Order: sequence, then C-alpha cells, then structure tokens
Amino acid sequence: MIIYFSATGNSRYAAHLLADQLNEPITDAGAWIKNNQKGEFYSETPWVFVSPTYSWQMPHIFADFIRQTRFLDNQEAYFVLTCGGETGSADQEIAALCKEKGLHFHGVWPAVMPDNYIIMFPAPDPNKSRQILGKAADSLTKAAECIRSGKDFPAIKHGWLDRFKSSIINQGFYRFQIKTAPFHATDSCISCGKCVRVCPLNNIHMKNGRPVWGNNCTHCTACLNGCPSVAIEYGKKTRGKNRYQCPDYQKKPEDNIKGEK
Ligand SMILES: Cc1cc2nc3c(=O)[nH]c(=O)nc-3n(C[C@H](O)[C@H](O)[C@H](O)COP(=O)(O)O)c2cc1C
Ligand code: SF4
Ligand code: SF4
Repeated sequence: MIIYFSATGNSRYAAHLLADQLNEPITDAGAWIKNNQKGEFYSETPWVFVSPTYSWQMPHIFADFIRQTRFLDNQEAYFVLTCGGETGSADQEIAALCKEKGLHFHGVWPAVMPDNYIIMFPAPDPNKSRQILGKAADSLTKAAECIRSGKDFPAIKHGWLDRFKSSIINQGFYRFQIKTAPFHATDSCISCGKCVRVCPLNNIHMKNGRPVWGNNCTHCTACLNGCPSVAIEYGKKTRGKNRYQCPDYQKKPEDNIKGEK
C-alpha cells in the first residue's frame, strides 16, 4: 500500500505513479492528519511511504502520523522522499522510526522535484518545472522496479554535514524558522476559503471574508502556493515569486510529462 502526504502535489504525483506501476492501493495521510484521525491499515504487500522533505527530514507531522498508526500484516517498508535537492541523512532518522514501529526498513529514495519552499527560495518557472518532473518520473520508475523486485533502495552516502542538517538545523528550523505572523492575504483575496480547506493542520479560519492564521503551522506552503488569486504573501519574502502546484499524475503515459535527458 502506498501512503502519502503532500502539500503542493509533488508527493501526490509520486505516490500515484508508484501506485499505478505497482498496482497498489493508495491512501492520502493528509486527510487523516487534517481530521486528527488515528487508525490502523492492513496490507499484504510492502508499505511505501511518500512525502516531501522538510529541513532534511521527513515532515514531523507525517512521522507522527506513522508513529500513531498501526500497520498490520506486511512489515516491509520503503520510503520515497520528494525534495528540491537533497535529503541529508533523513534515512537515519527514518530507519530509527522503523525500528520503533517494528517495520523492516528498505531505504529512502530521494526524488528531486520542483522546490516549493518559496518562503526561502524561488520556485522554478513552469518550463524548468516540467523538465524536473520528467526526470523525477524516470527516477520514480526505477524506484518502482526496486520495490517490485523486493530489493533495498541503494544506500545514501552522507557525511557529518548531512547529519548536522538533519539534526541540529532541523531542530532550529522547527523552533526558529516556522512563524505565522508574516502570513497575510492581500486585496486580491476572493474569500473562496481554499486556504482553509487545504491546511493539513486546520491553522486557518475566515474572519470577515479574509483568512486568519493561528500558530499551529508547519510551513508546508499549501495555503501560500495553492491560493487561486495569488493573494497570500509571507511578509515580503514571497512577493513577485512564482507559485507552484504539481500537475496530477495521468494514467495514460502519452498524457504525462516525458523525461527529458
Ligand atoms: C518547510 C519546507 C522545507 C523544505 N526543506 C527541504 C530540504 O531540506 N531539502 C530539499 O531538498 N527540499 C526541501 N523542501 C522542498 C520540498 O521537499 C519539495 O519541493 C517537495 O517535493 C514538496 O512536496 P509536495 O509538493 O508533495 O508538498 C522543503 C519544502 C518545505 C515546504
Ligand atoms: S485561498 Fe486565497 S482567495 Fe481563497 S480565501 Fe484564501 S487567500 Fe482568499
Ligand atoms: S498555515 Fe499554510 S503553511 Fe501553515 S500548515 Fe497550514 S497550509 Fe501549511
């Protein structure tokens, strides 16, 4: 079974591609997280967890979801982390989580996709995004072959800097970088309420037709990148930057993005 979390669609795309190629059912953990639901899942085939990378680790909200959920029958686990560039030593943290859960860890597959963290970086333009997605689709097909054959994903080499990023920097990121005060909606807001619906942590509510942000945020950027009117800004940091949404995975190969070598 494929279980994914996604804010701007990259991991949803990756999960659907894997589900299609492996002929596996698929579950959106984001809906469980949003509804604060705990539960158990059952699968005869290996678990494939797909999520973005947040500060060189799996998002804490997805790791917590895995921690709080029971995975019954099959105990083999693969992890695909979509990322804008690199996953640091996220595999070490995930291996420890698997140990905690009694799952057999088969490795992390980093899939480079367009970077959605527009609070710090620019999102690639649509042409560049298409190119990156094409390459990601090729890489994900290789990940599917690996899972199908029951092999471990190739080990990721990392040094002290990767471990530093995934530990100390990750802790600092959650403590000091994630703030909500800079979020605001401009006059372009059409009061559609999409930002409220897409927030996995229910951190946004509408007041007088405008969104208001609470403090329970993980900087996933679903609100920021998903606003149909590009009305959400994060202080001055996001002004003039492209917004990013990954297109849906298409089952017919001819409708999908082709890998560009
Ligand atoms: C809060 C946050 C932190 C991020 N940190 C990293 C990172 O450490 N390394 C990286 O390569 N990409 C990082 N990214 C980029 C995302 O992992 C990448 O764009 C991912 O594919 C987005 O997935 P989604 O569209 O399924 O939400 C970060 C994005 C966000 C929102
Ligand atoms: S998604 Fe954008 S337009 Fe819709 S309510 Fe939120 S800020 Fe306003
Ligand atoms: S407020 Fe926006 S950035 Fe924060 S968790 Fe909700 S959707 Fe994500």
